[in-house]
Amino acid sequence: MNQDQLKALVARAAAEYVEEHAPCDSVIGVGTGSTANLFIDELGRLKDRFSGAVASSEASRVRLEKLGFRVLDLNEVSEIPIYVDGADEIDPALHVIKGGGAALTREKIVAAVAAKFVCIADASKRVEVLGRFPLPVEVIPMAREYVARQLRKLGGEPCWREGVVTDNGNVILDVHGLRIADPVALESAINQIVGVVTNGLFAARAVDVLLVSNADGVQRMQRG
Ligand code: 5RP
Repeated sequence: MNQDQLKALVARAAAEYVEEHAPCDSVIGVGTGSTANLFIDELGRLKDRFSGAVASSEASRVRLEKLGFRVLDLNEVSEIPIYVDGADEIDPALHVIKGGGAALTREKIVAAVAAKFVCIADASKRVEVLGRFPLPVEVIPMAREYVARQLRKLGGEPCWREGVVTDNGNVILDVHGLRIADPVALESAINQIVGVVTNGLFAARAVDVLLVSNADGVQRMQRG
């Protein structure tokens, strides 16, 4: 099976998971990226089971609306039982790096509200130690060079993702060369830099359930 087929497999498993676990008439949280897109397509058949959806990006909002979903502003919603999203890297403790699609801030906000964060990925995303995938950091545009200097002091080599503007009007620095032994500490340290909106480490609020696909099928892992 190629990577696209593995993504489709795990997207289908995620739709079955939410069908079984999400309360009827609840709001579903929906992430961003190619795996999340396949999940959205699978979700179409379950549309009437949900009172609406909250999307972590404009791209996902548009895709959901095309399927007839009512997409809600997060400020109208107090409970999201399940949030489903992809990831760029996943460690054994279910800390993840996200933000390859530049949606990390909205993703982190929706994950914070959600009772359960279900991560969907093919097995190529699993690593022993996070950091091979460059860590995305969303930055206020005027602070870009200042933040880059501070990130170098933390041992990384930031690279400006030129031409990319986030849904929030900000820029992305991708930090190369990190070997992230303590994801919780690094997530917090980077977020302390003035001008950083947030970074793509989801460690303080890690994944609750991981659905991961390989040639043998889909495996489910649970934190705690
Ligand atoms: C977007 C993300 C995505 O979830 C992550 O980049 C994985 O994407 P894909 O499913 O396309 O591999 O964090 O900001």
